[in-house]
Amino acid sequence: MAKLVRFGVSFDGALLAEFDKHVKAKAYSTRSKAIEDLIREALVVKEWEGGAGPVAGAVTVVYDHHKRTLVDHLLDIQHDYQDLIISTQHVHLTHDNCLEVIVVKGKSARVRKLADELKSEKGVKHCSLTITTAG
Ligand code: NI
Repeated sequence: MAKLVRFGVSFDGALLAEFDKHVKAKAYSTRSKAIEDLIREALVVKEWEGGAGPVAGAVTVVYDHHKRTLVDHLLDIQHDYQDLIISTQHVHLTHDNCLEVIVVKGKSARVRKLADELKSEKGVKHCSLTITTAG
């Protein structure tokens, strides 16, 4: 673990009171832990927006498996991005719907392109991308 560094921070009193409510609501043990999480979140967004840095994440897709050409298209797209895909999990969600969770790692711009291509297929009911840091 990296060395801990102490530093002083001055806050607007009202803002700090609101922040303390957030700390309590999220069950953080300390303000420091809550501030660390906010900083990490900002850094992940920065990596993500930069487009070039490596990120990890999950693409979650819900689709109607009765649309046979759709299943082929979704598989074709995934094979086009096989260099990014670490694993996939398929769940037979309901009689009609399948859920797939595609775990990815790679350059953020390419991860986003994969998610956009999956999302744009007709018959995909929902597609979301969750990104975290790969570092
Ligand atoms: Ni299924």
